[in-house]
Amino acid sequence: MGFAYPDSRRSIFEKFSLEALPGEFVAILGPSGCGKSTLLNLLSGFLRPQSGHITIDGAPVAPEHPALGYVFQSPNLFPWLSVLENVRFGLRMNSRGSPQEQRAIALHFLRLVGLEEKAEEPPHRLSGGQRQRVALARSLALEPRLLLMDEPFAALDAMTRSALNDELLRIWSSLGKTVLFITHDIDEAIYLADRVLVLGLPPTGITAEVTIDLPRPRDQRDTRANPLFAQLRERLAEKIAVVMTSNQPAT
Ligand SMILES: Nc1ncnc2c1ncn2[C@@H]1O[C@H](COP(=O)(O)OP(=O)(O)OP(=O)(O)O)[C@@H](O)[C@H]1O
Ligand SMILES: [Mg+2]
Repeated sequence: MGFAYPDSRRSIFEKFSLEALPGEFVAILGPSGCGKSTLLNLLSGFLRPQSGHITIDGAPVAPEHPALGYVFQSPNLFPWLSVLENVRFGLRMNSRGSPQEQRAIALHFLRLVGLEEKAEEPPHRLSGGQRQRVALARSLALEPRLLLMDEPFAALDAMTRSALNDELLRIWSSLGKTVLFITHDIDEAIYLADRVLVLGLPPTGITAEVTIDLPRPRDQRDTRANPLFAQLRERLAEKIAVVMTSNQPAT
């Protein structure tokens, strides 16, 4: 797949190729400006590649593809709707089931992210981490097969982020979704993923691919204490250092 923004002469991707297996958790690491968000926008069909194609289970992607779910860096909840109605929103738009069924589904996913008791609250009465969990529940309620996550926990403090990582892994292992997770954080990528890809600066594409053979289910203490974790971190840090060095302006 190749892509350049129409008003730019520089390609973001040339001959870029990526395949995720069903149920796989892929993390994508890369410096600012390397094209991570562009990649997710291409994968979601909001942008179209100029060459090549992108498919989900053999069918071309499109923004309204029912197999797709997104969670962005900011939760983007509707402030005038309750938490439950926010989660129900997509179901309502897609006319999936009766209002009563939609509410039951929304409640089910709120329970899954541990926020059932906040169902009737407006979003502004939730913490940042809770809002991000609502955004996750809202995506999951549409039962996507592929979940695209663009630095969903980047704005949160370390403790909340680590709790949400565990929650995400629990949900992922119980629902068996394919996840593409973008992050700047090497440790987060290793902790979550089956495979970590490092993106270089445009139009390099993937410069490194590292399989994460840490046992599952993972928990923060055991996984981080595993000597393999430190090795993986060092390897990925080296790969990123190479990308950053290539970023130096030519003199
Ligand atoms: N709409 C646009 N039109 C033209 N160029 C764009 C557009 N959006 C992004 N770019 C350029 O494409 C490149 C990749 O941007 P992108 O947002 O994908 O980076 P990113 O890896 O997500 O960065 P960050 O980590 O800062 O979010 C950047 O050089 C950016 O300036
Ligand atoms: Mg981005």
